[in-house]
Amino acid sequence: MGLRSARWYSGEDDRNSYIHRAWMRRGLPESAFGGDRPHIAIANTASDLTPCNAHLDEVAESVAHGVWAAGGVPLDLPVVSLGETNLRPTAMLWRNLAAMATEEMLRANPIDGVVLLGGCDKTIPSLLMAASSVDLPALVVPGGPMLTGHFRGVPLACGTDVWRLSEEVRAGTLSREAFLRSETSMVRSRGHCNTMGTASTMACMAEALGMTIPGTAGTPAPDSRLLERSHAAGELAVELVRRERRPSQVMTRGAFLNAIVTLAAIGGSTNAVIHLLAIAGRLGVPLDLDDFDRAGAGVPLLADLQPAGRHLMDDLYRAGGLLALLREVEDLLDPAPVTVTGRPLTAYLAEAEIWDDGVIRRRAEPLLPDAGIAVLRGNLAPRGAVIKPAAASPELLRHRGRAVVFDGVEDLRARLDAPGLDVDETSVLVLRGCGPKGYPGMPEVGNLPLPAKLLAKGVRDMVRVSDARMSGTAYGTVVLHVAPEAAAGGPLARVRTGDPIVLDVAARRIDVDLPDGELAARDPVMTGHARPARGWERLYVDHVTQADRGADLDFLAGSGGDAVGRDSH
Ligand code: FES
Ligand code: MG
Repeated sequence: MGLRSARWYSGEDDRNSYIHRAWMRRGLPESAFGGDRPHIAIANTASDLTPCNAHLDEVAESVAHGVWAAGGVPLDLPVVSLGETNLRPTAMLWRNLAAMATEEMLRANPIDGVVLLGGCDKTIPSLLMAASSVDLPALVVPGGPMLTGHFRGVPLACGTDVWRLSEEVRAGTLSREAFLRSETSMVRSRGHCNTMGTASTMACMAEALGMTIPGTAGTPAPDSRLLERSHAAGELAVELVRRERRPSQVMTRGAFLNAIVTLAAIGGSTNAVIHLLAIAGRLGVPLDLDDFDRAGAGVPLLADLQPAGRHLMDDLYRAGGLLALLREVEDLLDPAPVTVTGRPLTAYLAEAEIWDDGVIRRRAEPLLPDAGIAVLRGNLAPRGAVIKPAAASPELLRHRGRAVVFDGVEDLRARLDAPGLDVDETSVLVLRGCGPKGYPGMPEVGNLPLPAKLLAKGVRDMVRVSDARMSGTAYGTVVLHVAPEAAAGGPLARVRTGDPIVLDVAARRIDVDLPDGELAARDPVMTGHARPARGWERLYVDHVTQADRGADLDFLAGSGGDAVGRDSH
């Protein structure tokens, strides 16, 4: 069959093959180097500093058993791991670094295929970007969500309840002491955030793209069925190599459009827009912002999950899981794209059933009839911006208000709660200098908190506009990913406090209502940091693309394939 790894190991009288074999032996049987056993890397993002992925070593063990069982050779490959809660200034600053490092290690090593183990927000995107660029046979095992914790008898939603409870403290309706006591209840078990945040969303995206064994996404991390699935994934990885089924054959344009339909139906994170654009960019699949609006249009919201709804990820799994949900929108899915199993995703839907239609709504009774992410344009965002209507207040989707402009998060923190801040509930809060180049790294600060004096009045949502992202666990009427960002000279840099801002989601517009030319005539306020002096940040700022192109590095677009031209000794 001509395995790629055999190019390292198979030369009989060759000094280099001797070196490759001798150093890898360490108890492996001779047959491991016979040239007919696929060598499968297990790209593992387990790390104590990525607490959501800390359990992946156990998952990796089950994958390895599956690889052995199918006649392959499993090889542990620890890769850069990004923990959403710990990394400063934002984990997003290193998504492309993790993707690049993983891509290079997959290509440089004697492997034939790879099983990708991720969980926390940036880990599955970076792994899929890497696998796309190398295009070796690959599949994903998502690490799974945690079980739901409770506080005072009420389920706690990861992330979402941190935002909600901390705003209650600021509003004076919850004591600080009670807030702090909820802390040990927030994370009940191994696994990633239990809301339909970015981690849960990207696990569902991996499945909708065809890159998991269908039915795996959303399996709770502590559930023994996850280990069973992991074993099966190891076996399948060996078969993928034998059949030469590569990511580029699975993640076709049709698969991306299926992912966009899925994103709307689950009420998934706006971050998926950026990640899917970046993955498509690696594969050379044509995909742009307008595809999200078009393919997501008219897709009903069926998952009653926080932050858009009420329940949490283990409820979704109990209720039938992603496949049961997708069965309701089967007519909107392209049946052509095949998954890693060789069968189309839609072939798995007939057996899926909804067991609790309070969690997974029937098509006839959706939470929202039209849940697709809306792509806005206008003189404030010539290259686009996004809003998630499912997480917004319906009455604010059409709104006109005075801008209150903040130059970066430090300015926001310094002035937001000042009693003298000239702001009311009709104002539009504008935050700039927080895009890919400006922060740098495009942090999740777009759901900026509301001024304390308005919270005290009972205001719980306002229109907000920024070049930042927001956490997938957050909610509100927030216009995100404004492109070009202020630090790239976008119109956001020319807006001033007091300007009238007009949001019209139905018309897909975000504008500042000023006479033509007035905005352009102003000097831009170039907030954000100076060009970094060295290192990754320097490379990142010099090469990162805008949000409408996935915020990848410009020179990482396209696939490099798996070929390595030269030997090492
Ligand atoms: Fe890791 Fe939310 S912090 S998934
Ligand atoms: Mg996040």
